[in-house]
Amino acid sequence: MIGKKIWAVGGGKGGVGKTVITANLAIALARMGNRVVLVDADLGGSNLHIVFGLRAAKYTLNDFLGKRKSLEEIMQNVGVENLKLISGASAILGLANPRYVQKLKVINHLSRLDVDYILLDLGAGTSYDVLDFFSVADERLVVVTPDPTSIQNAYGFIKTALFRKLTRVYIRRNDFVCELLRELGKPKSVRSIESMAQLVDKLESENGDIKYNFCRLLNDFRPQIIVNMLTTQDEQESVGAVKLVAEKYLNIGVDLVGCVYVDQIIRKSVKTMTPLLLQSPDSSPAKEIERIVGNILEREEESNQY
Ligand SMILES: Nc1ncnc2c1ncn2[C@@H]1O[C@H](COP(=O)(O)OP(=O)(O)OP(=O)(O)O)[C@@H](O)[C@H]1O
Ligand SMILES: [Mg+2]
Repeated sequence: MIGKKIWAVGGGKGGVGKTVITANLAIALARMGNRVVLVDADLGGSNLHIVFGLRAAKYTLNDFLGKRKSLEEIMQNVGVENLKLISGASAILGLANPRYVQKLKVINHLSRLDVDYILLDLGAGTSYDVLDFFSVADERLVVVTPDPTSIQNAYGFIKTALFRKLTRVYIRRNDFVCELLRELGKPKSVRSIESMAQLVDKLESENGDIKYNFCRLLNDFRPQIIVNMLTTQDEQESVGAVKLVAEKYLNIGVDLVGCVYVDQIIRKSVKTMTPLLLQSPDSSPAKEIERIVGNILEREEESNQY
């Protein structure tokens, strides 16, 4: 039994390689014999099909949300055994900002599909579309480059997604927790709580059960970082800052699950609209991506033992 089936790939900053990496992670998983569905959940800039050299999709998520088609009916073949693609809905754009229940509907139906893994390629930024898919997924992957703005965005993205998740859980259920979250979310100069650890202390004094459940949510959140477009090994250390800061201020664990160096082969694969793992399966970036999948699966197995 697979515990963590839906993997969402986000990152905050645009152009850091989320789409290219998600597509190739999916191919690597499929090649290992897993049945995989790749979902273009970038509602504003759906382009995953292009990575596979496909023209505009016949059906998209919008046909599903409009109750015209089932998820099975909107899946496309992409020329890779065990792998199907669900095209994103620039169509959902018509709904401007799909409601939370619609996103939950997509997730609920996806998780009921008879497949092994579902990978969501998210858009850039921290809109509710992106955050909600990211926070309800089972496995949360964050793509970050060594660029300081990307590092900053990745931390901001993780923090905003965590707050959105916690607020969603406690809204209308526990005003005390919501108030503490609001306090912690205030600018540094005016807030009375400095870190998630302090917030947890306040929960303890209120009610031990709430603290226990809250800490479980923090523990389960655990995003995993993929460093992309690395040029030297030293640059990995600067990305490690995201982990340190998230552990210190948000009280969550963060894993670094691997890196992909900058490589013209990737650019070429995008230009020729043939995924890297198909075009250059023996290249170093292809091997790096396979290693990342191996690391994520290994972690998954460890967490399933608990
Ligand atoms: N490791 C790499 N080496 C070289 N080029 C890369 C690498 N990773 C990504 N790229 C290039 O960066 C471009 C942007 O990648 P991609 O479209 O995957 O980013 P994204 O994060 O999905 O962007 P968006 O936020 O717009 O969805 C690709 O066209 C590709 O050419
Ligand atoms: Mg993208």
